[in-house]
Formats: sequence, structure tokens, C-alpha cells
Amino acid sequence: MANLTIRRLDDAIRDELRLRAARNGRSVEDEVRVILREAAQNRAPASSLPAPAERPAVDVSNRLAAVTLIIGGGIAAYKSLDLIRRLKERRIDVRCVLTKAAQQFVTPLAASALSHERVYTDLFDPESEFDAGHIRLARDCDLIVVAPATADLMAKMANGHADDLASAILLAANKPILLAPAMNPLMWNNAATRRNVMQLRRDGIHTIGPNSGEMAEAGEAGIGRMSEPTEIAAAAEHLLRPPKPQPLAGKRVLITAGPTHEPIDPVRYIANRSSGKQGFAIAAAAQAAGAEVVLVTGPVDLRDPAGVTVIHVESARDMLHKVEAALPADIAIFAAAVADWRVANEGEQKLKKTSAGMPPLQLVENPDILATVSKLKDKRPPLVIGFAAETEHLIDNAKAKIKRKGCDWIVANDVSPATGVMGGDRNTVHLLTRDGAEIGVDSWPVMTKEQVATQLVSRIAAEVGASR
Ligand SMILES: Cc1cc2nc3c(=O)[nH]c(=O)nc-3n(C[C@H](O)[C@H](O)[C@H](O)COP(=O)(O)O)c2cc1C
Repeated sequence: MANLTIRRLDDAIRDELRLRAARNGRSVEDEVRVILREAAQNRAPASSLPAPAERPAVDVSNRLAAVTLIIGGGIAAYKSLDLIRRLKERRIDVRCVLTKAAQQFVTPLAASALSHERVYTDLFDPESEFDAGHIRLARDCDLIVVAPATADLMAKMANGHADDLASAILLAANKPILLAPAMNPLMWNNAATRRNVMQLRRDGIHTIGPNSGEMAEAGEAGIGRMSEPTEIAAAAEHLLRPPKPQPLAGKRVLITAGPTHEPIDPVRYIANRSSGKQGFAIAAAAQAAGAEVVLVTGPVDLRDPAGVTVIHVESARDMLHKVEAALPADIAIFAAAVADWRVANEGEQKLKKTSAGMPPLQLVENPDILATVSKLKDKRPPLVIGFAAETEHLIDNAKAKIKRKGCDWIVANDVSPATGVMGGDRNTVHLLTRDGAEIGVDSWPVMTKEQVATQLVSRIAAEVGASR
């Protein structure tokens, strides 16, 4: 037979061949020989080149991580084909291992076509075991996902068996393992399975699901359905992402947000157009930075941010009480649009129309939360930040406010109707910081409220870090 000489390959195929050869530890010529031999034997190519149209852009630098996906022999195996795609969407490379039983439900060819990778099925495969391939599959990845994790596979894992490729990989692993169990509810609730799952969790193995719902078996329902591929992919991504820096870990941050409602009578109130979005975004950003966050909010139409203690209030006086009760804090950020006045003669009953004309509404000044907390003797947080929403002379008014209120920083924003800031998603702010008698002004470009929140939290983290 003639030696292999292949010319006029397009660059993309040549690059793909080089990559595959490097990945499999072969020369390019050997890689081509393997592909040709397997094609001639009419097998799923060990490293099958996908058709050019479906070939993914090779972008190694853009890869988040690599996962070894072990597919067990359960009816949910068909969902694992979708899981391959969900992982790849998240820039996660996937190498599949199918148990013997799994191949009764899905084919290696399908897994290979979707993963664009060779699929592994046999512990004693001379082609991959010449250099202990099962150890490489266990180690040359960032995470091992088992989906579906059958009762049988979990029993083997819990007892340290290694009599096939999947169990040998799992026993040789030095990477985190995520199991997505799937089985009939009776199998899931069986005492042996319960013992095995408990043992595996004690061994540090992560699990997701199973969910409850209908089973493949007609008329059966209960706990045992494999989690959905998107749920498993999200759990995998969560385990793979390096922990984010937590510059505010150990700090308690108190934040106010939203408008206040000042009652006129039991059904009417005075309000303002604040949506609470900026304060909520700051609470979420501070939480993500590791802080313990207490958010005291007026009435808003927003979902409570995850991991944040949220206290809902109505009026300025309620807000002040809850703020005082939440002290001490390391940092206090007053982003709420607190009403300056409330109705002095609040009606106990609903005010009625009378022939005497409109009821006179007398206004009295509300407590000033920012000034009150800024001037506290004992419990004043070391960093107090106010917001100045102005419609004219923004910087001058904000400078005057920082002095008048006694706070450390002011975030000033123009809330004239034309800006769309009130209720909108974007904000243009100026950060005023006080250093003795000096007030510095840092003007930020227009940003989303989330970006403003992130930038403010990193400024706070820098300040707090500098004074540690
Ligand atoms: C139609 C059918 C569906 C099955 N579904 C499941 C299942 O969902 N979960 C499970 O743990 N076992 C299920 N089994 C049993 C496993 O296939 C069997 O225990 C097998 O040995 C598992 O092998 P593996 O763990 O090596 O993949 C099913 C068997 C059949 C015939």
C-alpha cells in the first residue's frame, strides 16, 4: 500500500487534524491512518471529523474547561445528548464515556457527532490504553459529570469497584465529580441506594437532582427523574468557575432603596418615581463581592436579590427605624428616594369629598436618614454614602449636600425627566468623595445601573482595603 501523502487540504481541516493528532498523542499521518482505518471498517471514527458545516470554530483560548461526561445505562441517557450541547454552549469541551448499558439507549456515534470528540467505551481498548487512557480520562479534565448516574454506577462508586471503563475512571479521578442520578422512584428510595448516595456525598461527590415527576414507566411518578440538561450544565459551570474575588468578605453593608410612601389616609399616599433599581443593583453587587448585605427598601416592583436580607418598609419613619435597628454596619449606602415631607394630619379614615372643598393637607418634614446616621456618635458606619438626585446645579448641590449631611461620599445623578434615570435602566453619575475639607469629583460615563453598582462596589472595596 502506498505511503500517505495528502495534499490540497484546506487550512481549517489541516488545523483540525493537527489538533486531533496532538490531543491523541499521534503524528498527523498516524491520525489520518486511524481515521481511514475506522472509516473502512465502517465504525464510528475514533476521532471523527465532523462535516465542515457543523465543525466548531477551533478556539482553544476561549475554552472555559473540559468535562469527561460518563453516560450510564438509563432511559434518561437520551437527555445526555442534549447535555453535551448545553455544556458546549458554555464553552466547555466534552469527552464522552458510554457504559455498555448506555449503548443500549444512545449510540457512541451520536455522542461523538455532538461532542466533536472521540467517544470511549472500553477499558481494554488497545488504542487508548497503550498509555493508560482511563487515567487520562480521569485526570485530563476539570470535572467529571455522570449523567444519568444509574443506581448500579453509584453502587459501584460507593464500593470502589473498577471493572469497566466508567467505574475505573471514577475510582482514578482526582477531579470533582458531579452525579445526576436518574432511576425509578422505588430504586431511588431503596435502602441500598439511599446508603450509597449518603456515602458518596460523604466522600465529597456532588449531586444534582433527581427531580420529581412522571417516569418512563407508564403510570409511575415520584422522585427519580434526571435533572434537566440546562440544570446539570449550570451546576457543572458553577463547579468549574474559579471562585470570584470577595473583596468585601467579612463586611456588613447596609443599603436603602426605592421610594417611600407617605400616607394621606388609609388608601392614599404621597410617593415618588424611584424604581429602586439602582439600590437593588448595589445590594446584588455587594453580595457578589462577599459582603453580608441588609437592604431596607420602600415599595418596589423588583425581585429580592439572592443572598441579601431584604426588609420591606413603607414610610420614611419606618425606613429610619429599620436602618437604626440594622446597625452597626461597616458601610452604609443610602440610595432610597426618601420623601422629604409627610402629611401631618393623616386621616384615620378615608377622606371624603365634602361641600367644604378639598381637605387641606399639612406637610411636616420627615426625618433625614442620611444626616441622622452620618452624625451618629457610637454606631456611625466608617463609610457613609448618600445619593443626590438633582434636576439642576448637580455638582454644586451635591457638594453642599455632602457637607450639610456629614456623609463621606455622595453619588450624584441628574434625574431630570429628559435623562430617563427615574425608573430607567441607565444612569450617569458623579462620585463625590470627601478628604478633609477637599471634595473630589469623579464623573463616570453613562452606564447601566448594574455597571454603576459594580464600579461603586469596587471603589468601596479599594477604600476599605486601603484602610484595613
Ligand atoms: C429499559 C431500561 C431502562 C432502565 N433505566 C434505568 C434507569 O433509569 N436508572 C437506572 O439506575 N437503571 C436503569 N436500568 C437498569 C440499568 O440499565 C442496569 O442496572 C445496568 O446494569 C446499568 O449499567 P451501568 O450502570 O453500567 O450503566 C434500566 C434498564 C432497562 C432495561
